Amino acid sequence: MSSDPLVIFTPSGKRGNFPVGTPVLTAARQLGVDLDSVCGGRGICSKCQITPSYGEFSKHGVTVEDNALSEWNKVEQRYKDKRGLIDGRRLGCQATVQGDVVIDVPPESQVHRQVVRKRAEARDITMNPSTRLFYVEVEEPDMHKPSGDMERLIEALETQWDLKGVKTDLHILHVLQPVLRKGNWKVTVAVHLGDESHPPKIMHIWPGYYEGTVYGLAVDLGSTTIAAHLCDLKSGEVVASSGIMNPQIRFGEDLMSRVSYSMMNKGGDQEMTRAVREGMNALFTQIAAEAEIDKALIVDAVFVCNPVMHHLFLGIDPFELGQAPFALGTSNALALRASELDLNIHPAARVYLLPCIARPRRGGRRSSCPL
Ligand code: FES
Repeated sequence: MSSDPLVIFTPSGKRGNFPVGTPVLTAARQLGVDLDSVCGGRGICSKCQITPSYGEFSKHGVTVEDNALSEWNKVEQRYKDKRGLIDGRRLGCQATVQGDVVIDVPPESQVHRQVVRKRAEARDITMNPSTRLFYVEVEEPDMHKPSGDMERLIEALETQWDLKGVKTDLHILHVLQPVLRKGNWKVTVAVHLGDESHPPKIMHIWPGYYEGTVYGLAVDLGSTTIAAHLCDLKSGEVVASSGIMNPQIRFGEDLMSRVSYSMMNKGGDQEMTRAVREGMNALFTQIAAEAEIDKALIVDAVFVCNPVMHHLFLGIDPFELGQAPFALGTSNALALRASELDLNIHPAARVYLLPCIARPRRGGRRSSCPL
């Protein structure tokens, strides 16, 4: 058992052991407790206010001593003198853990769900999905013409659909033979059509004629909210829209606070990358449930984000974005796989990130600052 003090947050009930001296804000972040911060722990914003509770808590099995948190410090006193602080409140970024403690996060210090949905504009769009479904009849194996099942499937795609140079992945080979036989050599194949640098690729295979569809996601990754629209790639219809608060808010409300958090905390960028990817997966689960579809049918996803969100989502330390000349890791569009970003959709799903554009300055000149 850990001998480090136990920290219990209410109303969430999240708890964990932390070494003596850990700031309450750090403990909250590590446990995923919604404790706000705009200034990144500099004692300026007061968004991190908490209320420690003292005495015996049989429900939690702890007794909280009067010295469970560090002493009231000068930063807190300065804030109280200038702006006022309700008696009993502490600043979570200043108070450190000294013993077992129960900490209430008042509603105004919690990160609330705010605007969680952005409307998808109805526009006339010419459908040109990158992944399409193809029904094919595959030649049966013949002792006198030895060839693999996959080779005959690829040949069928070429002769029946004029798809040339189709490739596949191991996950398709794992299911190919039973699917071909179950469908009596007739199958439906989802093929990503590729581009100048990528050949067409088989994404999924169903026995017989598959009447269903596959889906794509359009995701707006903002610093406050993440909004997603789920699109039927056959009909082009937006079948569900959903949104969540960006869980990185607990590391700082604005972009600069998040860059500062990563500069001031070793591994802070990785914490924020984990948080946004977890949030993204929660959103995808939510939107798939809303549309009553299997998440594994999502084969494409397009993301748009500002440079700091872009870097943190990709797992790139945004350090350079916090100082002149504000160099981006890359400003080009990226084509990746969902699995590279730990996204739980179709295992071979494609992910596109739009290019990053620096913000224009007033007067028409472009600023090199990406924030
Ligand atoms: S005062 Fe801003 S995080 Fe504590």
